[in-house]
Amino acid sequence: MTAGGSSLPEVQALLRVLAAGRDVAELGTAFGEGAAALAETARSVVTVERDPERAALARERLAGLANVELLEGDCYEQLRGRGPFGLVFADGGRPFDWEAIVALLEPGGIVVKDDLAPGRPVEGDSVREFLLRHPRLAAAEILTTPATAAIVAVRLR
Ligand SMILES: C[S@@+](CC[C@H](N)C(=O)[O-])C[C@H]1O[C@@H](n2cnc3c(N)ncnc32)[C@H](O)[C@@H]1O
Repeated sequence: MTAGGSSLPEVQALLRVLAAGRDVAELGTAFGEGAAALAETARSVVTVERDPERAALARERLAGLANVELLEGDCYEQLRGRGPFGLVFADGGRPFDWEAIVALLEPGGIVVKDDLAPGRPVEGDSVREFLLRHPRLAAAEILTTPATAAIVAVRLR
């Protein structure tokens, strides 16, 4: 089984807000906890997990959620040609292919990247450099807990 656990409750609360009424893609399902939170408010959720053991556990967790589609494999391959999405939760798929992720978004669509250490400089941090400086994104870094941060970015055009 690969590393990386479930998203924090604080992040899941943020995801419920941002997903409301939207078509959502999640990169990295793990055990399905983030997808279950997204599904509470989203119109639809497509979630992708490459680890077969995790995908099997997530399939049990997400069984019965009619608005969730769980795909097994590499998130970039599985989501190619899908979308556009109103929200993408980029939680797996390192090294992140940010251009491919932005291409999944509709104009006005939102991307969330969590699991950041707060207060780090933008320079030299490839995630922050891309999301906070991309000309087609407006982005903000927020605290999700006193010790963790996320970047929320919207595609402008
Ligand atoms: C932090 S966990 C995801 C947690 C989950 N999103 C949640 O909110 O509970 C990251 C997951 O991404 C998966 N992953 C890593 N690279 C991936 C890839 N290229 N395609 C699909 N899944 C990937 C890992 O196996 C791991 O289960």
